[in-house]
Amino acid sequence: MKSSVSYKFARTYNILISIVDRGISEKKFLRIAEIIGKNKKVFEIGCGTAFLADYLKQGCSYIGWDLNKNFVDDCCKRGLEVFQKNIFDFDDYPDNDVIVISDVLHHIIPRDKELIREAKERTKKLIVTEPRTGLKFNSKRTPFCVYEIFDKFLGDNDGINPLAQRIKWGFADEEELHEYLQEFSPKKIIFLGKNKEKFIAIL
Ligand SMILES: C[S@@+](CC[C@H](N)C(=O)[O-])C[C@H]1O[C@@H](n2cnc3c(N)ncnc32)[C@H](O)[C@@H]1O
Repeated sequence: MKSSVSYKFARTYNILISIVDRGISEKKFLRIAEIIGKNKKVFEIGCGTAFLADYLKQGCSYIGWDLNKNFVDDCCKRGLEVFQKNIFDFDDYPDNDVIVISDVLHHIIPRDKELIREAKERTKKLIVTEPRTGLKFNSKRTPFCVYEIFDKFLGDNDGINPLAQRIKWGFADEEELHEYLQEFSPKKIIFLGKNKEKFIAIL
């Protein structure tokens, strides 16, 4: 499966994120770094271009896994410990204090809850952050093939996970999100953005 332009090069991905996220991304990583604190072993699964590594506080170490070879190569050039690995290889997870899952769950449906469950078993603290609102796919207004064309070239197509699954992500309101996370007994849920369109959950 070929990815869209967004996932072809680390630089294009970073530029697109800065346009699409309009500042929320920075707020999100600052907040996550604050939650993690100092001197922690951080493991990020589906790390992309490893934005988070640049925000971590003093004494923190960082390991990232992602399947995108271009992203991994870019991270390694920056001197980061990032590996081309599948996040579902649970038995290989390194020793850590904190696992971060940032903007990955909406890519891996229907295995999203499985990832949370397995990650939670392998860490002391799990931090999950995702868009709350998703793609808002409406088949009555826009035929699926229109989404498909956009996704193929410019959209959120990571070249790993099919659109037909990714399109299912999204929660109508806070209540629906709480229901989704309930089985993982979240310690705290923080909302970001004008319309609370992003959330950070500490599990
Ligand atoms: C939206 S990006 C998020 C990147 C980063 N965590 C961030 O917050 O900027 C989702 C990432 O998940 C990766 N990914 C999706 N499925 C994966 C899998 N099975 N194993 C490893 N990485 C995966 C993609 O390659 C992509 O880089």
